[in-house]
Amino acid sequence: VPIEVHQQIDSTNTEAKKQAMNGAPHGTVILAEEQTAGRGRLGRTFYSPKGTGIYMSMILRPNLHLSQSIHVTTSVAVAICQVIERLTNQKPQIKWVNDIYLNQQKICGILTEAVTDFESGNVEYLILGIGLNVHTKHFPVELQAIAGSLNPEVVTRNQICAHLLNEIFPLCEDFSHPFLLDEYKSRSNVLGKWITFMQNQQRYEALAEDIDAQGGLKVRLKSGEQMTLNSGEISI
Ligand code: BTN
Repeated sequence: VPIEVHQQIDSTNTEAKKQAMNGAPHGTVILAEEQTAGRGRLGRTFYSPKGTGIYMSMILRPNLHLSQSIHVTTSVAVAICQVIERLTNQKPQIKWVNDIYLNQQKICGILTEAVTDFESGNVEYLILGIGLNVHTKHFPVELQAIAGSLNPEVVTRNQICAHLLNEIFPLCEDFSHPFLLDEYKSRSNVLGKWITFMQNQQRYEALAEDIDAQGGLKVRLKSGEQMTLNSGEISI
């Protein structure tokens, strides 16, 4: 597969999107040492200083309907946790939907962007972006409370990256494999906790009770009413 490494780029997801539009094949990987405009979910930026993290995007052309694309991020989140655990003996957790935490700090985010056929809802291509802080030391003030880094003692970024690709490639050949629900749940740091979230400009408090087979978060409001969240952001 084509693997491109850039010294500096605005965003590997943006570059991957451009290349996908021009027909780049399934499996193309774009990596960068540094991103000047790294993007996160919900329009946020992803802090990507030079040489300290893994900033990577993959172009995927899976045979998927848009409604199934949540499986991509959830199974990739599990795979990332497994690689980290195997290589560093540390046990990361997943904050729904797909942030990876270690010691209560976010060390990794996943940004999946899908382009679908308007009529059928089938995915034409999907950009899977992963940002993992490996040796990131100094975060901007606004991130200091939540962001962290892996800080492995012996493994290198290259090794982590190689293992990630080895795990993620086979997953992406076929996302129809049963979603790794039990493993995803066992790594969740939200189940059983009180969370808050916003919906229709209202703030809700709820107990996170379960994650369903579609990756939805089932919560119980204080009123006793149950709700399933399918996307968005929660706070623990
Ligand atoms: C998030 O935490 O909201 C998702 C962060 C995703 C960051 C990665 S870094 C590589 C790829 N390129 C980007 O611009 N974003 C993703």
